[in-house]
Amino acid sequence: METDKVQQAYTSVAELYIELFGTIQQVDADDLAFIRRHLASRPGTVLDLGCGPGHLTGYLHALGVEATGIDLVPEFIAHARATHPDVEFELGSMERLDVAGGSVDGILSWYSSIHLPPQELDGLLKEFRRALTPAGRLVLGVFDAEEVGAFDHKVVTAYRWPVDEIAERLARAGFREVERLRRPGNDKHRPLAAIAAVAV
Ligand SMILES: C[S@@+](CC[C@H](N)C(=O)[O-])C[C@H]1O[C@@H](n2cnc3c(N)ncnc32)[C@H](O)[C@@H]1O
Repeated sequence: METDKVQQAYTSVAELYIELFGTIQQVDADDLAFIRRHLASRPGTVLDLGCGPGHLTGYLHALGVEATGIDLVPEFIAHARATHPDVEFELGSMERLDVAGGSVDGILSWYSSIHLPPQELDGLLKEFRRALTPAGRLVLGVFDAEEVGAFDHKVVTAYRWPVDEIAERLARAGFREVERLRRPGNDKHRPLAAIAAVAV
């Protein structure tokens, strides 16, 4: 199963991943500003799905957001709980959220859908839409590309997406785009595309 493969792959590099990417100082300031702009003033629960080490969940919590981080990898959840003892973290899959429909005010999925086979993205967006309140906000970060395709990600196979294709799929799943952020790649980072969308 694809989820097991992703979980095992991140488990085997969890310590290194935490060291390289596990604090907000390692996140681009534009990305933090984008996340803050769309999720900081949500009135209720915001889920950070595929939260990894939990640094972005901690960031949202520090902004006064009622944030919960969810991830497949026990090592990430243990680290997140230890470094952010006041924040809620749960072990689980973002593909089957343990929440009532229409009960979540915001979702952050920051590079967490990148390992999902392309044919499964629509199902994931449908699950996000089910969980969100009307007018709930989704912030989705992916790797940007001219066409959909797999690439050799350091942890486990990942997929990149044209941002317009993501926007179309979001519209079909019941979202309206409100802002997008694109950053070209450089010698350290692959091109990024992020979309903020509201549930309609
Ligand atoms: C590239 S990392 C991003 C982590 C974090 N969002 C960040 O920005 O550093 C992808 C994360 O998504 C998690 N993930 C992948 N598929 C998942 C799923 N179905 N449910 C929950 N977490 C998942 C992985 O365990 C990993 O922590």
